Amino acid sequence: MPRIGTPQQPVKGGRPREAECYPRRPPERERFRMRAADGGAMGSRGKQHPRDAGWAFDTRAIHVGQEPDPAFGAVAPPIYQTSTFAFDSPAQGARRFAGEEDGYIYSRLGNPTTERLEECVAALEGGHGGLATASGMAAVSIVMLGLLESGGHVVATDCMYGPSRLLLENELSRFGIEASFVDTADAGRVERAMRPTTRIVFVETPSNPTLKLTDLEEMTRIAHAGDALLVCDNTFASPLLQRPIEKGADIVLHSTTKYINGHSDVVGGIIVSRTPELHARLGKMRAFHGGSMDPHQSWLVLRGLKTLPLRVRRAQDSARRLAEFLAGHAAVSGVHYPGLASHPQHALARRQMDGPGSMIAIELAGGYDAGVKLLERVRVMTLAVSLGGVESLIEHPASMTHAGMSTAELAEVGITPGMVRIAVGCESYEDLERDLAQALDQASRSSSPSAAIRR
Ligand SMILES: Cc1ncc(COP(=O)(O)O)c(C=O)c1O
Repeated sequence: MPRIGTPQQPVKGGRPREAECYPRRPPERERFRMRAADGGAMGSRGKQHPRDAGWAFDTRAIHVGQEPDPAFGAVAPPIYQTSTFAFDSPAQGARRFAGEEDGYIYSRLGNPTTERLEECVAALEGGHGGLATASGMAAVSIVMLGLLESGGHVVATDCMYGPSRLLLENELSRFGIEASFVDTADAGRVERAMRPTTRIVFVETPSNPTLKLTDLEEMTRIAHAGDALLVCDNTFASPLLQRPIEKGADIVLHSTTKYINGHSDVVGGIIVSRTPELHARLGKMRAFHGGSMDPHQSWLVLRGLKTLPLRVRRAQDSARRLAEFLAGHAAVSGVHYPGLASHPQHALARRQMDGPGSMIAIELAGGYDAGVKLLERVRVMTLAVSLGGVESLIEHPASMTHAGMSTAELAEVGITPGMVRIAVGCESYEDLERDLAQALDQASRSSSPSAAIRR
């Protein structure tokens, strides 16, 4: 075991102690708690938490972890833009390292601004604690590295986010970790893929970009029948629309780059664990991995988070209408959207989610060339990857987000050459419909193939 410590004070001895990896309650928050009018309810374990006091989701998104600053009463939380924290005395430093005193040591291990974000998202997801990370991929890799060992096996959604699949297939395989990629919409296939060595069932629902759903309660049953944990990448739904821990999942993760931040200006991620043990384990892994979220990044994400319910509902309203519009358009041969009654898992969407979200995938009657023309002709929508921002984005999965997959793998998971993915944003619905209508009309009229991307 390598010795681990901060640059100032290498740790002597063998295994790193908990406090070096994830310090417990910080003094800044403690001071606030003593003054708080609610008697110190916020985030204090063992005391009443606002979510237990019946606050609705929208209220929690604005207030949990976001109490006025204890120093000056600033309503917007301060950004603790510091890499390290001073100790009052050598004895205090030693106590913090020994885990005998709560408090911050070093921002890779914990930071007051970042902790506010973690507290809020954990409350929204209904988990024990959150760990904010430098990106969504940092969250994925910390979960994998923290929970797997050589000889371990993962069952994962076949059309999961491309780099998450490549991490398992090309990188973790070098350390003796095996993965089976299956259509997790089919519980029977997941059951058949399970092995005695399976430690993680990793699902993405809705899936990217095919918008297939996975039944989270079924997955919990299958994972827990073996010796596995259920991990859910909840990026596409957001905690407003789906809370996997309520369905039995052990860990939820997000690319906060998407809906949680919501403004296409920050890359980030977060992991929420159901239990204190998993939270501590992954906190330790984050400290070694080094992919912690930076304080300024945390502040921006926390700011975006306050309007998550407003943004997600607004985009979803437009997505519902656009999906109907597209389904009736002659140039469109297929629409994948869980909110449409024609979606094969519409009933599951209604049971498991609080709304179908704002991601739509379409197939064009004119195939690949018509898809390229559509991308070239939209004016309100932006041709870009990513999702969950206030601006609508449009992209071509086969040549962009899922370009790492072979043609056979794309066909197997249902990503056709003519599929276009739309991340609906918060613009006026009328402008979005007009934009798609003019672009589809031009795309279906034009027959000359474009000299763009092809696979
Ligand atoms: C479902 C999903 N998970 C994880 C990620 C990775 O997130 P990041 O780009 O923030 O590393 C993405 C990014 O698009 C994603 O769509």
